[in-house]
Amino acid sequence: MTTKHNAPFKAELQSKIDTLKARRKPVCLGSIQFDSPLLLAPMSSIGTAPYRLLMEDLGAGGTVSELVSCHGINYKNIRTVQMLKIDPREKNIGLQLFGENAEAMALAAKVAEEFQPKFIDINMGCPVKKVVGTGAGSSLLKDTSTLGHFFSTIKKSIQIPLSIKIRIGWDQETINAMEVIHIAKEEGIEFVAVHGRTRAQQYTGSANWELLEHLGGKAPLDIIGNGDLHSNKLIREKMLHSNCQAFMLGRGPLRNPFLFLEPYLLPGEEDTLFFTPEDHYEILQKFVEYSRDYAHSDHTLLISIRKHLIWMAAGFNNVSIFRDQLFKTPDLNESMKISEDFFMKMQDKRKRLNDHESFMTSGHG
Ligand SMILES: Cc1cc2nc3c(=O)[nH]c(=O)nc-3n(C[C@H](O)[C@H](O)[C@H](O)COP(=O)(O)O)c2cc1C
Repeated sequence: MTTKHNAPFKAELQSKIDTLKARRKPVCLGSIQFDSPLLLAPMSSIGTAPYRLLMEDLGAGGTVSELVSCHGINYKNIRTVQMLKIDPREKNIGLQLFGENAEAMALAAKVAEEFQPKFIDINMGCPVKKVVGTGAGSSLLKDTSTLGHFFSTIKKSIQIPLSIKIRIGWDQETINAMEVIHIAKEEGIEFVAVHGRTRAQQYTGSANWELLEHLGGKAPLDIIGNGDLHSNKLIREKMLHSNCQAFMLGRGPLRNPFLFLEPYLLPGEEDTLFFTPEDHYEILQKFVEYSRDYAHSDHTLLISIRKHLIWMAAGFNNVSIFRDQLFKTPDLNESMKISEDFFMKMQDKRKRLNDHESFMTSGHG
């Protein structure tokens, strides 16, 4: 199984991947070593084991699961507990939990630890009403007086490192990321991912990188900067000049699955068509293979593959025709045939993504 994971692709694509992977430098966040400073951000209904595996194959230095409810775990809800499953081929994975109650979170963290992640992460960024209304997610940023107890109770229940993922504050008037990080440091949290928006912003405006840089330089814990890193140029720029110790990429890799690797292209290589439409088709096939082991039914498999197909096709010519064809078939094999025709027979092989175009403007963090 391990050998398979080491070389999941055909020789030509694998050699391109290996060339860029060899240029990555490991980074330590707290006591954990990651293969690169570019990590996959947690994303609900997306950051499942097959997608995390694929992203590690394609250079992510580490990954975080989608958010999992502590109450679902404690009630032994089967679907919830299945979300904790880690593939034996995954290397640097954190399981993210959400909840508002310290004791319930501590109990759930203990269960999650048995699935052998590298770390447990607490969701403190989710802006969604249903989560915030219960006092969980970004709501936790509102009353810092309870955070010490919250962190220490969870921390005491597990042996592995504990991290948090926050937003910069609840709203523009109450930006308090630095205060939260100081409390986290006191209670033994190892590192902090910060989405550079307030809860009030949801996904509007842009991530406040000025503040993220300030945190990266001055905060007492390792900081993972997150938000709007959607192009290889911007990511390379951050890797060279940022105060942050690492970066999380969420939406970007959905449309460009090579985004963990492309920042490592050299100037000459960047002008060539390094990753081709044919490469996109090959990784899609791999994703289908990984997904088969985890799908609850043919229908859920089709829905998941179709949404990834459409995201990955973004930026190529004739995407809307491709999308229409996909939606006309309820069959996965047929969908893959349509995709093969699209990716393998493309005339204009350039992918042209508009990195400033707004894309997926809701999510759980
Ligand atoms: C569809 C979607 C689902 C998300 N789910 C989660 C989640 O489960 N936990 C979390 O902490 N953040 C979640 N987020 C937030 C991302 O991790 C990230 O902070 C945000 O998208 C900004 O980064 P980006 O600009 O690279 O996408 C989600 C975002 C999206 C778009």
